[in-house]
Amino acid sequence: MANQIEPVVRAVGLTKVFRDFWGRPKAKAVNSIDFEIRPGEVVGLLGPNGSGKSTTVKMLLGLLYPTGGRLSVFGRSPRVVETKREIGYLPEESYLYKYLTAAETLDFFGSLFNLSAADRRERIDQLLEMVGLEHARRRRVGEFSKGMARRIGLAQAMINDPSFLILDEPTSGLDPLGCREVKDLILTLKRRGKTVLVTSHLLSDVEDVCDRVIILYGGRIRAEGSLNDLLTVSDAQRITTPALPPAAMEKLLTLLRENLRGEEFKIDRPRRTLEEFFLDVIAKARAESVETAGVSGGGRIAEYLAKGDESSAVLASLLNEEPAPAGPAAPAPAAEQEAPELSARLESLTREAPADTTEPESPAHAPEADLSAANAKLNDLLGGKRE
Ligand SMILES: Nc1ncnc2c1ncn2[C@@H]1O[C@H](COP(=O)(O)OP(=O)(O)OP(=O)(O)O)[C@@H](O)[C@H]1O
Ligand SMILES: [Mg+2]
Repeated sequence: MANQIEPVVRAVGLTKVFRDFWGRPKAKAVNSIDFEIRPGEVVGLLGPNGSGKSTTVKMLLGLLYPTGGRLSVFGRSPRVVETKREIGYLPEESYLYKYLTAAETLDFFGSLFNLSAADRRERIDQLLEMVGLEHARRRRVGEFSKGMARRIGLAQAMINDPSFLILDEPTSGLDPLGCREVKDLILTLKRRGKTVLVTSHLLSDVEDVCDRVIILYGGRIRAEGSLNDLLTVSDAQRITTPALPPAAMEKLLTLLRENLRGEEFKIDRPRRTLEEFFLDVIAKARAESVETAGVSGGGRIAEYLAKGDESSAVLASLLNEEPAPAGPAAPAPAAEQEAPELSARLESLTREAPADTTEPESPAHAPEADLSAANAKLNDLLGGKRE
C-alpha cells in the first residue's frame, strides 16, 4: 500500500454491462458506481436479488472485467497476483471438491498459497476448531450439510490470513448459533485490523457487524453511509431507566405532558431480540448437557489470525504465475473466467494431501481440554501470542 490512508478499494464510475452472443448490451448489472472501502472497515453491500452485488464482488476479485470506470484494490488492479494474495473470498455458493475431506480441502487451498506443510497443518487444526468442524475433519465435504459447507468455506477463505475478506452471503444456511459465531468472527477480524466486505440479504446480520452499508438497486447506489448516520432517528430521544415506582412515573408523565404540549410520546419496556433470547435458551440447554446431533459450536478464533499481518511474508512467496482466484474454483461466468491450471494443480496436490493429514483418527467430538492443549502447542510453534 502506498500509504496508510490509501483505501483498500476505490471504485470510480464502475460499470459492468453483460452482452449477449451478438455483442448487444443485455444487462447493465452495475451502472457507474463510486465507492471506497477504507482499511479496517466492515462494509455491507446490500440490495435485492439482481441488484449487482455479486457482479461488483467478482470485479473486485478480478474475475470479471469492468466495462467502464476505474477499480483499484490495494492501489492496484484487481487482476494482479499481489492483490489476490491479500484477499480471502467466500463465494455465494461454495464450490467444494466433494471427494476431499474437510482437512484435505483446507490443505489444498493452503497449497495454492504456497504455505509449508507444517503451516498448513497448524492452520487447518485451528481453523477447523474455529468453525466447529474439528469432529468432521475426515469426512468428505460432499456429505456436508449446507451449514457445514458454509463453515468449511469460511475456513478456506481465511487459510491465507488475508487482510481483506470478501464474504458473499456468509450466514446463508447457518442456524442462529452459526450466524452469531460468524458475526463474532467478523467482529474479531475487524479488531485485528482486517477489512471486510459482506453481502447479505439478512439485514439484521449486516446491522450487527457493519460500520457502513452501501445499498444497491438496479446496479446503482441508492444509499450509502454509516449505520449511525442512516438509522438514527434524529428528531426523537429514548431514555432507558430501571423500572420506576408509580409515584416517580406519575411525576415524569406530568413533566412530559407540560413540556410536550399535546405532542404524542411513548413509554415502553425494552425488548430483547429474538436472537438474544434464542441463544440464551440454547446456552442453558448446553449447560444442562442436552444432547444434539450435527455441528458442534465453533471454537476459539484461530491463533494465527491473531498475529496481525505477519503472515503476508509467508504469502510473499506465492505462485509466480497467475493463480486460480483466491477463493475456491470461483464461480465466475464461464466465458469470463479462466483457471485452466487449477484442476491440474488440484490433482497434483490431492495426491500429496494425505501425507499431511494422516494424524490418528480423532474421536467424534474432540474433548475441550485436548483442543486447548493442542492450541497452546500450536501457539508455541507459531511463536504467536494470544490477543
Ligand atoms: N454472466 C451474466 N450474464 C448476463 N447477465 C448477468 C450475468 N451475471 C449477472 N447478470 C445480470 O446482472 C444483474 C446483477 O446480477 P448479480 O448476480 O450481480 O445480482 P446480485 O445482487 O448478486 O443478486 P442476488 O441477490 O440474487 O445474488 C442481474 O440482472 C443478472 O441477471
Ligand atoms: Mg449475488
